[in-house]
Amino acid sequence: MQDDVLPLGLVTEELISRFEGIVGQAYVLADDENRKHYGHDETEHLLYLPEIVIKPRTTTEVSAIMHICNEYRVAVTPRGAGTGLSGGALPHLGGVLLSMERFNTILQIDERNGQVITEPGVITEVLQNAVKEKGLFYPPDPSSRGSCFIGGNIAENSGGPKAVKYGVVKDYVLNLEVVLPTGEIIWTGANVLKNSTGYNLTQLMVGSEGTLGIVTKIVLKLIPLPKYDLLMLAPFRSLEKASEAVSAIFRAGITPSAMELVEIDALKIVSTMVDSFAVPVTDDIAAHLIIEVDGNNMDVLMADMEAIAGILEQYEAGEIFFADDAQQKAELWKLRRRTAEAVKIKGYTIEEDTVVPRAELPELIRRVKTLGKEYSFHAVFYGHAGDGNLHIRIKKEGISNSFGNEEMNVILRKLFIIVKELGGTISGEHGIGLVQKGFMDIIFEETNLRLMRHIKKVFDPNNILNAGKIFDM
Ligand code: LAC
Ligand code: ZN
Repeated sequence: MQDDVLPLGLVTEELISRFEGIVGQAYVLADDENRKHYGHDETEHLLYLPEIVIKPRTTTEVSAIMHICNEYRVAVTPRGAGTGLSGGALPHLGGVLLSMERFNTILQIDERNGQVITEPGVITEVLQNAVKEKGLFYPPDPSSRGSCFIGGNIAENSGGPKAVKYGVVKDYVLNLEVVLPTGEIIWTGANVLKNSTGYNLTQLMVGSEGTLGIVTKIVLKLIPLPKYDLLMLAPFRSLEKASEAVSAIFRAGITPSAMELVEIDALKIVSTMVDSFAVPVTDDIAAHLIIEVDGNNMDVLMADMEAIAGILEQYEAGEIFFADDAQQKAELWKLRRRTAEAVKIKGYTIEEDTVVPRAELPELIRRVKTLGKEYSFHAVFYGHAGDGNLHIRIKKEGISNSFGNEEMNVILRKLFIIVKELGGTISGEHGIGLVQKGFMDIIFEETNLRLMRHIKKVFDPNNILNAGKIFDM
C-alpha cells in the first residue's frame, strides 16, 4: 500500500495558533524540555521529539484537533502515562504528541449494574481502589498499575498477574467513546454484558495501540471483590522444574489468581533496589514461583494452597514461604512488580513479551538458554508463567538498545521463530508498537497483514494516527 501514503505535513505557526484556540495556550507546548519529556516512554532508551505537545481536556477538543491534523496530514501520536514497553507512544514521525493526561476523571461507578464509566487518563490503581471501596473489582493489574493509565491499558490490551484467573483488559471493556482520525466521534457498542449487534468495534479498538482512534470514555465491567487471598513463594533449584510445576497445578484443577515466575538473577537485582523484605536466597536456588489464590471461602483457599504445595514438592521445590499479613504480601508483590525497571537499570535491553501455550514454557526456556550460548547473550526470565507469558530480557556486551541493532535483530528473530514453533506469539500484553513491528512477518501471513492494513485505511485514510506502529502501510 506504500504508494497511497501521502507525505506528512508540518506543524506550522498557523496550525499552532488554531490548536491554541481550541485548548488554550497553556496546553500547547513546544519548548525543548516538554518535547523531550514526551519524546520517550519506558521502551528501552529511545527518544523521538514531537514538534508540539497538545493536552486537550474534552472529546470535542480532541475531535477539533483531529479534524485539523487530518486536513493538513499532520502525524498525531496519542499518549497515556508513557509507561508502554513497545514504543506505542513514541512520536517517531514528529508532529503532534496528544497527551490524554487531563482526561483524569472517573465519571460514574454504576453499582446497580456493576460497571464503571471513566476517562482514559485515570491511573489504573486509582480506578481499582475507587471501585474497591464499593466492594467491586476491576482485575487487570499491569506491573505499572500505580502509574499507567487505563486508556493506555486499553490501547495495549494489557494483562498483569491476575490475568491468569480473571482475564485481560479486553474481557472487561463493554463500550468506548472514540474520536476517529477524521475527527468524527462514535460510541463503539452499548453498556451491556452481551452484544451480538454487528461487527465488534469495541474489541477492535482494544489492543489497536492508538492506531485506529483516540479513546475518550470507557465503560468497564466490574465483578464482586473476592474477600480473601493467600500468597506463597516457592524456591526451585531449576528454572525448568519451576516452569514444569506451573502447568501441573492447572492440570490438578486449581486456577490460582496469580502464578508468576522470577528467575534468580532478576530477583537478586530487584532485591538490591527495592526496600522490601529479604527473600531467603541460597546459591542453589535458580527461580521462584509466586502463587496466589483468592476467593470467599478461607477453608477452600487453605485446601488449594496445601494441594499446590504438594504438587510443587513433586517438582523439587524448596521450603515454601507463606506471606503472613498484608505487609508481607505487599512487599513480595513490590519485588515482582518492580523487576522490569530494576533489570532495565542493570543493562538488560527490551522486555520481550513472549507467550506460548503454558505447557511449552520449559521448552521455551531450554531453547532460549541454548540460543544464548550460541549468540553469547545472557537472558533473564520473569513474568506470568500461568499464562505462558514470559518476559525475557537480553543483556549483550556493548548493546544498550536492541531496537535498530543488527546483532539483536538476528537474535530476536531466532527467539521469535522459536516462540512461533512452540505455538506462541511475540506479544502477550505489551503490544507491537514501534519496536516489534519488524517481526510481524514471523507471526502472520501476508494475507493477515493485508487485512490489518485495510482496516487501518478504513479508519485512517490519511494515515496520520500513530502511523508506522504495529506495521508499515
Ligand atoms: C511485568 C510488566 C512490565 O510483568 O509486563 O513486569
Ligand atoms: Zn508483564
